Amino acid sequence: MIEVQELHYSYPSKYQIVEALCGVNCIFESGKLYTVIGKSGSGKSTLLSLLSGLDVPTKGSIIAEGENLLDLNRDQYRRNKIAVIYQNLNLFPLLTVLENIMYPMRMNNIPQKEALEKARSLLKKVDLSETYENKLPSMLSGGEQQRVAIARALGMPGKIILADEPTGNLDTTNTENIVQILLNLAHELNYCVIIVTHDFEIAKKSDRFYELKNGSVIFSGTPQEYLFHRMV
Ligand SMILES: Nc1ncnc2c1ncn2[C@@H]1O[C@H](COP(=O)(O)OP(=O)(O)O)[C@@H](O)[C@H]1O
Ligand SMILES: [Mg+2]
Repeated sequence: MIEVQELHYSYPSKYQIVEALCGVNCIFESGKLYTVIGKSGSGKSTLLSLLSGLDVPTKGSIIAEGENLLDLNRDQYRRNKIAVIYQNLNLFPLLTVLENIMYPMRMNNIPQKEALEKARSLLKKVDLSETYENKLPSMLSGGEQQRVAIARALGMPGKIILADEPTGNLDTTNTENIVQILLNLAHELNYCVIIVTHDFEIAKKSDRFYELKNGSVIFSGTPQEYLFHRMV
């Protein structure tokens, strides 16, 4: 579904060039939950911003559903192919929960009535009752806000979900809930979910993961293979 080939990215800086990614190769298929793990500064957020079309690689390519991102209209790609979930600042603070979920549908010109029905069903899908519909994000806990952010992502047409430390501010129970929701999306609804995290507990639950170190992939495989690889 998304293939990354020999990806390089450097940040220009005053004194030296920072090579944030140095020849990364990965494949992300639909129906699976992936994690990209690595210590702070290893290049995770840079990879995600390239995958989300926010930035253009210095070298190498990203092939999304068979097409090179460089050849696509990146605004359309961002609107139609992917949904991004961040650690904070996910929701529009002045819009209600329901309005937040409906926002991307309105951007895609889905009629009001249909958008409303869909938003209500998505709220259910992330286990939030209708009493949440008219609340503002500030009235919700971090875990609830993240669930609304997932519901909003599901209102977009794309089947690729990119999440940067989506559980970074959550306790263990909420983290497990969010990861379970994302796993179900991959396994039951055939989404391709990519979570970037420094938390190995999340990586353990994923189908496959990539470990980044100093901008290079130093491991790719299943959690079981990783544990084995660590032991030997
Ligand atoms: N805007 C920027 N300007 C210069 N260097 C940056 C910028 N953003 C990130 N970097 C550098 O790129 C490398 C990778 O950063 P990042 O992708 O944010 O890592 P991670 O998300 O794994 O913490 C780090 O060395 C970081 O200092
Ligand atoms: Mg980061």
